[in-house]
Amino acid sequence: MSENKKRILTGDRPTGKLHLGHYVGSLQNRVKLQHEYDTFLIIADVQALTTNFESPDKLSEDVRQVARDYLSVGIDPEETTILIQSMIPEIAELTVFYSMIVTVNQLQRNPTIKSESAQYGYDEMTYGFLGYPVSQAADITFCKADLVPVGEDQLPHIEQTRKIVRKFNNMYNKVFPEPEALIGDFPRLVGLDGKSKMSKSLDNAIYLNDSQKEVENKIQEAVTDPARIRIDDPGHPEVCTVFEYHKAFNKEEMEEIEENCRQGKIGCVACKKKLGSALNNLLEPIREKRVKYINNPSLVDEVLLTGTRKARKVARETIREVREAMKLDYFPE
Ligand code: TRP
Repeated sequence: MSENKKRILTGDRPTGKLHLGHYVGSLQNRVKLQHEYDTFLIIADVQALTTNFESPDKLSEDVRQVARDYLSVGIDPEETTILIQSMIPEIAELTVFYSMIVTVNQLQRNPTIKSESAQYGYDEMTYGFLGYPVSQAADITFCKADLVPVGEDQLPHIEQTRKIVRKFNNMYNKVFPEPEALIGDFPRLVGLDGKSKMSKSLDNAIYLNDSQKEVENKIQEAVTDPARIRIDDPGHPEVCTVFEYHKAFNKEEMEEIEENCRQGKIGCVACKKKLGSALNNLLEPIREKRVKYINNPSLVDEVLLTGTRKARKVARETIREVREAMKLDYFPE
């Protein structure tokens, strides 16, 4: 960990396996940037409780599942600190301090909070759910992150974090950098249904740990251009889900496929086959790597423990500065 490298913090809620939307939305960026930045990856288990507080039984496996996904896609624990949110009490402490400088109105206007609460059918929200952007600000700032690679839906939370940081720095002392969001190449990958973004809760996802056969089957079911009935009908790639995936995962063949589709020279079945191979080429090395971690669960646990310990040190130092800035350091060491 070098002192002068800029810092990244980003992460996920452990609510199950990660999918291709996560991959092109943010994972790819994290893998690429981990050498250039001092990177922290948070497994936000407390944030997962905002929606899953009634079913904690799966949490422990879900945390390890996300960690395996990280390691399998090429997150290198020598370069990236992977940590478990609930094991850093300083994050909870920062959340309480920040809650004094965020208004309820700001949170109620947050578009992601609004659309998620509609999606989950909440007519009343818990305090924790409404306030999770505040806890996310604590995630981002405990390590003084400069850059936050995320999907597009997270932008309002980064904006909220910047507001908190500005207010804190102006009011007390300049402790934090103002973090910036970094959006992936495909911030909103469409799901297999062609309607909404790829998401576990909408059951329209291809997972990083799907088998070759599962990937092929899912693609066979994917929605294509509805105007195309006969194989030589001219197609409209701009409305086709399968073509969206070619753009994201099969850049080499994309142009040729687009042209052939428009001219009715390639049918949907053949086009889907090509996508299947491209995806399986991408996923195969990830599957191979995963085997090592499935067979050695203690490797994953070791990464989590070491990462969390390292993060805790950083968090302690930040809290010391925060308490000093807020004049809460009654008995300085
Ligand atoms: N809210 C993010 C998601 O649902 C997960 C997350 C928690 C996060 N803490 C974070 C992302 C801090 C970036 C930075 O995907």
